Amino acid sequence: MIIGSTKEDLSQEKRVSLTPEAAKNIIGLGLKICIEKNYASHIGIADKEYENVGVEIKNSSLDVLKQCNLLVKVNCPLDEEIDYLKEDITLIGMLNPSKNKNKLNQLTKKKINVFSLELLPRITRAQSMDVLSSQSNLAGYRSVIDSIYEFEKAIPMMMTAAGTVPAAKILVIGAGVAGLQAIATAKRLGAIVSATDVRSASKEQVESLGGKFLTVDQKEDMETSGGYAKELSEEYKKKQAEMMRDALKKNDIVICTALIPGKPAPRILNEELVKLMKPGSIIYDLATEQGGNSAFSEVGKINNINGVKIIGVKNLMNRLPLTASNLYAKNLFSFIRNLYSREKKVFNINLEDEIISKTLIKEV
Ligand code: NAI
Repeated sequence: MIIGSTKEDLSQEKRVSLTPEAAKNIIGLGLKICIEKNYASHIGIADKEYENVGVEIKNSSLDVLKQCNLLVKVNCPLDEEIDYLKEDITLIGMLNPSKNKNKLNQLTKKKINVFSLELLPRITRAQSMDVLSSQSNLAGYRSVIDSIYEFEKAIPMMMTAAGTVPAAKILVIGAGVAGLQAIATAKRLGAIVSATDVRSASKEQVESLGGKFLTVDQKEDMETSGGYAKELSEEYKKKQAEMMRDALKKNDIVICTALIPGKPAPRILNEELVKLMKPGSIIYDLATEQGGNSAFSEVGKINNINGVKIIGVKNLMNRLPLTASNLYAKNLFSFIRNLYSREKKVFNINLEDEIISKTLIKEV
């Protein structure tokens, strides 16, 4: 069985699916791998490093597509690649089913077994494959670094002969995987950190990282049985806005990470709330590409409203593609190890396995 991987559209995506380390582990399962030449040279990994672990380098993407039984990608294959894919092969990637409906239908019609890793169940056995967690964790870290880069003051408290510099205050909205990493990073850099979330379970996690939890006074728990957030009632939204009013006046940087699976991102900061922030403050909206948690956030732009910079995130993983690729490739390896039967030497599509049945695209 041969696993293939081709370059992504480099104008949009710098991550790769296979690193030499992951390739070595996959080859250790008894599989072969081929990639196209200069596969990861844009992030400093030479073909030689892949060859050293036993990967075959092909001259073109077409050579890879013709030969592989399993294609691994970061994003959906390019249009021209879909035309060349053989029937009955398997495809694994972060395929964004809600956005790529037509492409995925084209693939399933070709009898290609398509697995989209964003659909993985959040169960213990799937943790090592969890691409949402591995990438969101990095996004949380990088959101703090990028915000600080745009902030024109120092972050930690410093007592100097010239006087005391106060610590900056950072508020994190949404304390899921990205939010918790943002809290941890901001704490490490010396900020005074607070955070809020609609799931009451997140309070303990925020506090364990040294953050102050800002609670909305509300009896109803907004957590679904799957551990995600529910959409808020109008009453809850009002109370949350009231709580934000005070918090926004006090904070220097706000990191927005709130999402609701399958829905547009909740709008938490309206225009009036944004304008309450002090000039020089930053709003970093990690949810911009899903519709944005904040007013004035636009994909790939920094908007300045009364001296408040609202940063709209675009393709954040392209800012740390090597780390993001390393983690993604490890997630992929774990998924392939679960899918591949070493005894039968086939990819075993066992629909009784929740990991397989939930990630397999049937019809979009
Ligand atoms: P997410 O990316 O879907 O959302 C980010 C955060 O925003 C969530 O904590 C959510 O509660 C919060 N949020 C949504 N609407 C909000 C609003 N209006 N105001 C304030 N906050 C709002 O979440 P993520 O990071 O994917 O985590 C979702 C759940 O999955 C969590 O319970 C997490 O602990 C769990 N999880 C479980 C894993 C496992 O067991 N293997 C792995 C990763 C996450």
